Amino acid sequence: MAAIERLWRILPGCRGASAFFPLPQNMFARLLARAALPSAFLASFRRAGRAALLRLIWRKVKKLSGKLAGKMLKLCHVSYNFGSHWALKDCSLTLNKGDFLFLSGPSGAGKTTLLRLLYASLPVQRGQVLVAGFNLNTLKAREVPLLRRQVSVVFQDFKVLPHRTVFENVALALEVRGVPAPVVRRRVRAVLRGLGLEKRMDAKAGSISGGEQQRVAVARSVVVNPQVLLADEPTGNLDPDLSVRLMDLFMQFNAYGTTVIVATHSHTLIKRNPAAKVLLLDEGKITYANWPGARIFRAPDAPAPENARMPGRCPS
Ligand SMILES: Nc1ncnc2c1ncn2[C@@H]1O[C@H](COP(=O)(O)OP(=O)(O)OP(=O)(O)O)[C@@H](O)[C@H]1O
Ligand SMILES: [Mg+2]
Repeated sequence: MAAIERLWRILPGCRGASAFFPLPQNMFARLLARAALPSAFLASFRRAGRAALLRLIWRKVKKLSGKLAGKMLKLCHVSYNFGSHWALKDCSLTLNKGDFLFLSGPSGAGKTTLLRLLYASLPVQRGQVLVAGFNLNTLKAREVPLLRRQVSVVFQDFKVLPHRTVFENVALALEVRGVPAPVVRRRVRAVLRGLGLEKRMDAKAGSISGGEQQRVAVARSVVVNPQVLLADEPTGNLDPDLSVRLMDLFMQFNAYGTTVIVATHSHTLIKRNPAAKVLLLDEGKITYANWPGARIFRAPDAPAPENARMPGRCPS
């Protein structure tokens, strides 16, 4: 009421009205207060509602960003079928920024299918896939290039541009991203040196050996410094020395925070990197995962591990 009295004192129009209608001053103030009450109430309700809504949104955003912090990749109950054949069956997996994962398993287990899903070269049919902040379930065709700026892939059936030089093949990946020429030169040279290709830089990519072409494909993928690097049998055509060198390069990228997934049949490579996570697929199912807290499905004759849980927790 005191506020109304104050308002009354400072509003000349009200004073005039009071003079015209000879009502006692506090009675007029009361009438004015009653008339003003609903709109004031509504305004304060609106303000409170807006503030509550903002608080709610903020809490949700904080919760979500907390949940996603450090999460680079998440698959929840993912299945994929080619016609009537299920290449992936109910796979769940969570990887953090900077994880290194070996994806292994027999031929036809679903490794390439899984990588293709992560790269959006296959659509999500069942389950949920999140990669580098992109929800692949709702990803639009026009957003695919944005995803592929963050996710690089070395395909099993790698392809190089045969009529371009090794340097040009690798530089192209940076040029299409608008990287300045001096930076392109520096980065391409550094990556080619790391892969032992500095002497073949000016050779036409079609004229070099299969192993060298494979390294060109790897160089093209790593030179863009992606958040996620997917490599499908990257050592398939390489001798043991080069395989080790390539893995060291992947490890270097991984040390800088790139999440790396390497699909491989090579037990030697896996054993050489004991710190890496290992996931085995068999007939489309995750049958083994080596990190603490991961649920490990073993072959029926193998003993089930203790504290078995899924490699990725999914929203219920
Ligand atoms: N385009 C396709 N059409 C039909 N079936 C397919 C297709 N691609 C893959 N498959 C099938 O899906 C299953 C998984 O294939 P995928 O290529 O993912 O296996 P993989 O583990 O990568 O095998 P590999 O080690 O031989 O590369 C296989 O049975 C395969 O025959
Ligand atoms: Mg494959």
